[in-house]
Order: sequence, then structure tokens, then C-alpha cells
Amino acid sequence: MKSIMLLLLCVVHVNAQVTLPSRQDGFWYKNRIANTESILIEAFFDSLCPYSRDSWPPLKLALQHYGSRLSLVVHPFPLPYHDNAFISSRALHISNQLNTSATYRLLESFFDHQGKFYGNATFNLSRASVVDKIARFTSNSIGNSHYAAVKAGFTDPKTDHATRISFKVC
Ligand SMILES: *[C@@H]1O[C@H](CO)[C@@H](O)[C@H](O)[C@H]1NC(C)=O
Ligand SMILES: *[C@@H]1O[C@H](CO)[C@@H](O)[C@H](O)[C@H]1NC(C)=O
Ligand SMILES: *[C@@H]1O[C@H](CO)[C@@H](O)[C@H](O)[C@H]1NC(C)=O
Repeated sequence: MKSIMLLLLCVVHVNAQVTLPSRQDGFWYKNRIANTESILIEAFFDSLCPYSRDSWPPLKLALQHYGSRLSLVVHPFPLPYHDNAFISSRALHISNQLNTSATYRLLESFFDHQGKFYGNATFNLSRASVVDKIARFTSNSIGNSHYAAVKAGFTDPKTDHATRISFKVC
């Protein structure tokens, strides 16, 4: 399997001290799991990073063009200097558990509305308000019937753990 590591993000600092999780981490695009015939791209995306956002449309075009010959796995990679990046990354994990097929839709929604979640837009908001704002945004994107489950996901330590593990894979 050919593997191309794409670091489509602002900056990566690799910390060799952390325990590395299994390679199963990440969200597969359209469930197109890599096989021996396909090329695998691994992307490390911060849903609130403008560089990740800008790299997505060309990558999506490539995925459409090459079809099953190209697989993509996205590892959510919240950067510490992006306000609320960890919360939005956790939202991706929560939505992935509720409906695997909706994860990329949510990622695209974050890319389209990044400005709502950092800087002045959230400067005076409590953490609880930000979590609620992101939970509503998430359920608007993946289906409002999921609101209660999304909200509950934010108090479930398992999703916090999954988000941390996923960060460490990078
Ligand atoms: C899951 O997401 C897909 C893609 O967005 C959607 O078509 C489907 O209806 C969703 N399923 C549920 C149970 O919400
Ligand atoms: C935050 O709240 C303070 C006090 O109410 C206000 O002066 C400030 O302009 C607010 N900042 C933003 C970015 O909304
Ligand atoms: C953010 O809010 C502060 C205080 O309200 C204001 O002085 C500043 O210009 C705002 N920054 C942006 C980028 O809008």
C-alpha cells in the first residue's frame, strides 16, 4: 500500500513521548478503506484552521477524480492556538459515532463557518456556552434529531478520550 502523508495544516509538533494509538484512528472518506491497489492519503485536519479549510476543495476534487483508486483518512488535529479547536474536534468524534456518513458533512460545515468559533465570536462566552453553540451547530449539520445525543456526547468521557487519542496519533 502506498501511503502519502499529507500535512495539510498550520504546523505540526510531533511529541515522541506520547503513547501511539493504533492506525485505526481517523475518519475514512466514504468508507473507501485503502487496499493494496489504492493510494492512501492521510490528512491531519483542524476543523478551525484556515489552511486545512483551503486544502479541502482540491483534495475533494482529487478524490472525485480518482474514485476508488484513492483513499483518504482524516485525523482530527486540533491546534492548541485555535480557540475551541478541541471542542470542534470532539464534535467530529461524537457525530462519527452517531452517524459515520455524516462526519465529512460536519467537517465541511465547520470549514464553511470557522469564523463563528474563534476570536471575538466566542471571546466572551463561557465554555458551557461554546459547547452548546457547537452542539447546536453539529446537530444542525448532521440532523436535529441528534441534538440530545450530541449534547450527551460532550459529557461522555469516552468521546474526550477518543479526541485525545486521535490527537496523539499525529
Ligand atoms: C446519516 O448521514 C447520511 C449522510 O449525511 C444521511 O443520508 C442519513 O440519512 C443519516 N442517517 C441518520 C440515521 O441520520
Ligand atoms: C466582551 O465583554 C466586555 C465587557 O462586557 C466588552 O467590553 C467587550 O467589548 C466584549 N468583547 C467582545 C470581543 O465582544
Ligand atoms: C474584537 O473586539 C474588540 C473589542 O470589542 C475590538 O476592539 C476588536 O477590533 C475586535 N477584533 C476584530 C478582529 O474584530
